[in-house]
Amino acid sequence: MKIKIFNREICARALLATNSSCAESSAEMRKKMGIVYFEQDRVFKLDTPHTSYLIGIVDEENFLGHIYYGRKLDEHRLTYLLRTNEAPFVPSKNSRERVSFLDAFPMEYPTHGVGDYRESALRIRTEEGYQACALFYVSHEITAGKKKIPGLPASFGKEDECSTLEITCRDQILDLTVVLSYSVFETTDVIARHVEIHNGGEKKLFLEKAASMSLDMDNRNFDMITLHGSWARERHVERRRLCRGFQGTGSLRGESGHQDHPFMALVTANAGQEEGEVYGVQMMYSGSYEIRTEVSQYQSVRWMAGLENQNFRWALAPGETFYTPEALLTYSARGLDGMTASYHDFIRNHVIRGEYKDKKRPILINNWEATYFDFDTDKLLSIAREASELGIEMLVMDDGWFGKRNNDDCSLGDWYVNKDKLRGGLACLVEEVNKLGMKFGIWFEPEMISQDSELYRAHPDWAISVPGRAPALAREQLVLDFSNREVVEEIWRQMKTVLESANIEYVKWDMNRPLSDLGSAVLDPEKQGELSHRYMLGVYELQERLVTQFPNILLENCSGGGGRFDAGMMYYSPQIWCSDDTDAIERLAIQEGTAMIYPLSTMGAHISDCPNHAVGRITPFETRGYVALAGTFGYELDVTRIPGEDRAQIPGQIALYHKYNDLVREGDYYRIASSMKDHDLDCWQVVSKDKKESMVTVIQVLGSVNRRSRMIRLKGLDEGKQYRIEGEELVLGGDALMYAGLQLHNMKGDFVGRIIHLISI
Ligand code: DGJ
Repeated sequence: MKIKIFNREICARALLATNSSCAESSAEMRKKMGIVYFEQDRVFKLDTPHTSYLIGIVDEENFLGHIYYGRKLDEHRLTYLLRTNEAPFVPSKNSRERVSFLDAFPMEYPTHGVGDYRESALRIRTEEGYQACALFYVSHEITAGKKKIPGLPASFGKEDECSTLEITCRDQILDLTVVLSYSVFETTDVIARHVEIHNGGEKKLFLEKAASMSLDMDNRNFDMITLHGSWARERHVERRRLCRGFQGTGSLRGESGHQDHPFMALVTANAGQEEGEVYGVQMMYSGSYEIRTEVSQYQSVRWMAGLENQNFRWALAPGETFYTPEALLTYSARGLDGMTASYHDFIRNHVIRGEYKDKKRPILINNWEATYFDFDTDKLLSIAREASELGIEMLVMDDGWFGKRNNDDCSLGDWYVNKDKLRGGLACLVEEVNKLGMKFGIWFEPEMISQDSELYRAHPDWAISVPGRAPALAREQLVLDFSNREVVEEIWRQMKTVLESANIEYVKWDMNRPLSDLGSAVLDPEKQGELSHRYMLGVYELQERLVTQFPNILLENCSGGGGRFDAGMMYYSPQIWCSDDTDAIERLAIQEGTAMIYPLSTMGAHISDCPNHAVGRITPFETRGYVALAGTFGYELDVTRIPGEDRAQIPGQIALYHKYNDLVREGDYYRIASSMKDHDLDCWQVVSKDKKESMVTVIQVLGSVNRRSRMIRLKGLDEGKQYRIEGEELVLGGDALMYAGLQLHNMKGDFVGRIIHLISI
């Protein structure tokens, strides 16, 4: 594959060309590549379909400054935005005020200890204990396509889909090279950023902080949107004012977490679903992270995303390179809808891989809420028999099939079949399930170890812990040290044995506690601060093996529900269990927050039994179906024991799944109403890319008098098309449906729902 390399000289030549055909082709090339270096003005311009991002090189020392990110521009001569003509001047003109310059200049990747007192992206300590670091531009390279990041999940794109700018900066005194990488995509308004840090010197350097991205902007009266929650209450949308000083979100849990989320949007105060400016950043990373803002004395905002830095400390030996995880930046001039659309398309096209990337997923039934630990072969087969007759396509055997696990006190780490429960073994059970025409899936929790397990008795030092201190238990379990190769190899050996022993077509990979007591038996003292990140690298390595050596297996990630629901995990698994809260009404808020940045195809959503096991609420079976249809769709109940009238609805729900799933997986998603804001109504819409078909789901949370007729304004339709509303004698124009609205009749009762299907004629 030919990689086009445009260095500084070639770009400059192309720009200065007077020959018209040459100028034309260079203009075309620039357009295609999406990245141009303007030699004379010393400006980089990165373009996506609707956004521009500009970086400038300043002064004789070659400071790298952030000029602009926002709505797409033709103009690149914007270095006045760096305000280097205002006091304080650049150091070459006013060296007595160097600190004032550094503390105000919009630095593209700020460093610590030399006079910029705002948050730094890179903090380095030398062997001697000094912290000063200053980076200056040295060279750059623009290439078609995008490279992988060693050991980490990363977005991808072919040479004609994206291009990459790598800016090399150096600190001469430390002999440190830092490469800032930016990839822009032809069809999506996302810029993927990461950083590579290379120690070219002869002494060790200690990274104390290494952010994936930093962005300096004027504070345009921004609000901050983040996603917060708890176990079984993940990703609720929260909006607050951006204030002076520090604000942010983060996790120290060794996983992205239920409580906070590796995402933040900065939005202008007037921004809503359809209007206003929205900047988004999300980490393509599943471990501890932080995303922070700092509003400075000059009302500029410095925005940073990357690995957390309270536990992190990385010893970078001479010749070694450290790679940060990737951050995915986006900008929308059309409110939250624009950000959502960009992230959905980007994740579907440039993050998710594998056989199920664009494929309908089998409808599954999972036995967790049906049986918990109390099952055997006969019980599972009785569920499978009933389920297969109703049209369910896969049985997933959840926690409790291995070691001597009859409760959650034991056996994690002992991944061999409990033959008392699965009489005849796993292969026999799978064969029987396959005979029913169903696929079979299995649950693992590979990262964990119970103290009551054979593995722990043989290798107590394989659990993460600090010598001399009893590690804190959570759900009676400890975390395996995945920075230890031996551990990863042993768990892989056990998993592979199971996966090869039967026709397994799905794996649910669970993770039920955060990391604590960070200590590894195999890391040198100066490397203990690497544990949390090395742990993630071990997890990623094992998941990579799983998806490459068993490419036919559909992997679903999970972490006590949605505790590790992030773009990093989506690189390995096209779907993630959204929450242990399966109550249809609670799910409205969880799925709204999740769908704000992740495509519906990634949201694990099942119909469960009532009263709901998490909240005790009773909702109609029909409504539970509508809510689950917004995600991957499946069942989480004992189908042999639910009421007959519920069971009778299953074939109809399955028909709806088959009817709408292409639309749900591939279409454009819009939020129409939010039960978080209006406790009466929740509504979302999906429109096919060609705008010929649309599905609108309405859930009325509370019925109320005199509000039985409701209007909803739809989105994303073709103004010029006429749409037939299925089941009603009604044809309406796209413009009428979007700007005048659609009236909902007879919405009576609490927790009732409806799907409206529009087809263009
Ligand atoms: C937490 C998961 O989210 C549940 O779905 C279930 O798999 C349990 N763990 C099993 O322990």
